Amino acid sequence: MELEQCLRLRRDTRHFLKDDVPETVLKKALTAAHCAPSVGLSEPWRFVVVRNQQTKAILKQSFLKIRAKAEANLTNDQDKLKLHKSLKLEAIEDAPIGLAVFCEYPKENYTIGTVWTDETLKWSCVCAIQNLWLSLTEQGYSAGWVSILDYDQLKQVLSVPDDWEPLGYLCIGKPATDYDGQPMLEQVGWKQRCSEPVVIYR
Ligand SMILES: Cc1cc2nc3c(=O)[nH]c(=O)nc-3n(C[C@H](O)[C@H](O)[C@H](O)COP(=O)(O)O)c2cc1C
Repeated sequence: MELEQCLRLRRDTRHFLKDDVPETVLKKALTAAHCAPSVGLSEPWRFVVVRNQQTKAILKQSFLKIRAKAEANLTNDQDKLKLHKSLKLEAIEDAPIGLAVFCEYPKENYTIGTVWTDETLKWSCVCAIQNLWLSLTEQGYSAGWVSILDYDQLKQVLSVPDDWEPLGYLCIGKPATDYDGQPMLEQVGWKQRCSEPVVIYR
């Protein structure tokens, strides 16, 4: 698939087939992630692959608990509330792979002549996630990003080192519907995309 097509078709996916994701597909996507730019060549991204159904069930409970808090400000809009409830829940259970993404902060005190902040390390990890997402798209798979989770519990359940900061959890698998390039939140009427990016020329 051409890069342009990949960029256009990459979508946040909420409904997955239960078909397994071959290790070769995952490996290729993780290799793509590892090609990402990182501040000072820090390569701070860390991944935990979750295939265990019991672990997924714990994460689903955590999601339900946190989601209830996130929905507190939607109570005035019943349509949005209903829609919000339908987002991602199935994906956590159905997607054959969960991929928790963490940022590890360097032990040494780096200085590279520019501002080095924790934020730039996290942005580097997001570049890696985008590469991974594009590689999955190119291979006919996709990801759905879940950021509403109890991160302390996520760390505990996955037994990761203390200094790994959770950035999100990706549900990965084969999309249940064909890619048509339209974001699902637009399809269901949550929000319309802007037709053009906001750019100012000086
Ligand atoms: C940093 C980040 C966090 C996200 N967290 C969530 C989330 O918690 N739940 C969810 O349903 N979608 C989440 N998404 C997916 C977005 O809702 C999705 O990208 C957006 O609707 C645009 O759709 P598209 O990715 O298909 O273009 C997240 C996306 C990003 C980039």
